[in-house]
Amino acid sequence: MTRKFYITTPIYYVNARPHIGHAYTTIACDTIARRQRLLGADTFFLTGTDEHGQKIERAAQAAGKTPQQYADEISAEFRQLWKRMGISNDDFIRTTEDRHKKRVQELFRKIRDNGYIYKGTYTGQYCVSDELYVDGAHPGDPCPTCGRITETVHEENYFFKLSAFQDKLLALYANPEFIRPEARRNEVISFVRSGLRDQSISRSTFIWGIPVPDDPKHVIYVWLDALANYITAIGYGSSHAGAQEAFKKFWPADVQMIGKEIVRFHCVYWPAFLMAAGLPVPKTIVAHGWLLFEESKMSKSRGNIVRTETILDVLGADALRYFLLREVVFGQDGSFSFDALVQRYNSDLANGLGNLASRTLTMINRYFKGEVPYPSHAASKTAADDAIANAARNTIREFGTLFDQFQFSRALEVAWALIASVDKYIVENEPWALGEKKDEDSRSRLATVLYTAAEALRIATALAYPVMPDATAKIWVQLGLGDIKKLALDELTWGQLPLGTKLGEVQPVFPRADKSAVERMQKMEEDQRAAPVVEAPAATAVTTGQPNATPTSTAAAPAAAPAANDKISIDDFAKIELRVGLVKVAERVPKADKLLRLEIDIGTEVRQVLAGIAEAYAPETLVGRKVVIVANLAPRKLRGMESNGMIVAASLEGGKPVLAGFLEDVPVGARLK
Ligand code: MSP
Repeated sequence: MTRKFYITTPIYYVNARPHIGHAYTTIACDTIARRQRLLGADTFFLTGTDEHGQKIERAAQAAGKTPQQYADEISAEFRQLWKRMGISNDDFIRTTEDRHKKRVQELFRKIRDNGYIYKGTYTGQYCVSDELYVDGAHPGDPCPTCGRITETVHEENYFFKLSAFQDKLLALYANPEFIRPEARRNEVISFVRSGLRDQSISRSTFIWGIPVPDDPKHVIYVWLDALANYITAIGYGSSHAGAQEAFKKFWPADVQMIGKEIVRFHCVYWPAFLMAAGLPVPKTIVAHGWLLFEESKMSKSRGNIVRTETILDVLGADALRYFLLREVVFGQDGSFSFDALVQRYNSDLANGLGNLASRTLTMINRYFKGEVPYPSHAASKTAADDAIANAARNTIREFGTLFDQFQFSRALEVAWALIASVDKYIVENEPWALGEKKDEDSRSRLATVLYTAAEALRIATALAYPVMPDATAKIWVQLGLGDIKKLALDELTWGQLPLGTKLGEVQPVFPRADKSAVERMQKMEEDQRAAPVVEAPAATAVTTGQPNATPTSTAAAPAAAPAANDKISIDDFAKIELRVGLVKVAERVPKADKLLRLEIDIGTEVRQVLAGIAEAYAPETLVGRKVVIVANLAPRKLRGMESNGMIVAASLEGGKPVLAGFLEDVPVGARLK
């Protein structure tokens, strides 16, 4: 019977546009799914978008859209991007789809019928950004995960009896395969050992969610809703026979890949929900580290994201896929930089695999009329040929072991070591010199050398396919082997390259990138962040992020330009989104006397703002202070840093700024109208 393989990515929040941090999780899963297909498994690869919850509701409101419109747009962006990146998902689930909503309600019912849900009252702190209840926190306390200020909630809720699962969960973690890597497993074990409290699993103060069955005043807690996608997508809770069959076939998942910040949800809540519903738990949950950019986690709120499109435009999807899996040690954090990307591209792809393919195939064209030569009689063989064959056999084995342990970077290192040995072998055996000689022995030796090189190329290409599906498919065709997707990877071994195969047309697969590639990509990213800034009337009382505090208006300003009588309409004013922000971090900017770098929590996210107020305010006096921020101002770069918003201040004579504030307490994120 065919082995099945079910792999999932987390579903992506639609409050942020996709960036390469998201692409990282998806690429890792895609690579595994592709390898499994070639190994003969009946594979199902799921991804999708997470579209409910207060965070999305607020983000949509801030964008002046309905949550559904907002989710539709961003979900479509994820889907299009995954297509461009060659992601081979078998389904894309959206939590706002009917199939999901109905099946989540089924799951809720099941857990309730099994006696694990009761009604109670929750009073405590909640982090909207992480959609996380923060036990033990007090009003004004920050979220332990993201540092944003928590909000106090007092609600009648449905509770899940998480406390009933402590022992069962610990028993589950005894299996070292359940959570990987080991360090994450240890964290989870100590968290669960310290005691589990029942978990609120409904909200009643907003409506953007799935109604609790039989009590639609409540919506189901967004994490229960979201986690359930892994089973609703493959048919759980459906009355349809085909869907039930699919669920029976694919559940439990073989691999659930996640980033390290959502380990608790996946390794504690998720298996507990499943056990409460009487369902099996996933076989393995694998947590990867973060992609850092400019030394911190790449994220929308930090404003340090790199868009995937930029890299796709300049170097293509395979380059990004290879780079992320080769450069970052899986499980650990890794830094992204355009320099490192281009360097790796040139050394490993243009000069490595690409060069091996083009030199080997070009010589076969030239010396053997484009047909794979026969490695002739034994006398023409040397120990070096056998060494390559043995290295290739070992590479197949080691690559498989490392890859299946999620050590992508080591696996690729091993495959590229084979490429390096073949390069060396070619240099040492000088096929170009043999090609000039016409005697029988030289001809036979040349055939052996080029056959050996081509066979090693075939093996390296086959192994690299899951990581770089596009380029390897091209090399496969150039080798005359047809469709690489038909390759039986489990049978891959030395010596399968059919002799006499007619090569396809030889073309370079990875053209060398010159220095300007880095600049081009950097510029594309900067252009994307910067937006036109229009000079505003000098009378404006807004402190800008500019060192000289020259007042500027928002990007919306042209439309809001004063009418002939110098008045604007209420609609014009409504275009400016003013919000209450809380200063979390304030520091001087080196070599800029007037400039402070601030991190300001505006309820839905933390923004970096550069403000020209350093002469009037010492940074330490600002931390914890509430300010007014223009939240929908187009970001701009100052001193190489992005300023994403503007603080509002009165401008006294001589230009001294005085920050706007409130006499009464106001919640962070409140809009000024
Ligand atoms: N919606 C939740 C997941 C629900 S799953 C039932 C969520 N979404 S997310 O969009 O914030 O993150 C999705 C995935 O992208 C996570 O695995 C996360 O770790 C990954 N990444 C987002 N930014 C990242 C980096 N900068 N680096 C690496 N991965 C990161 O969490």
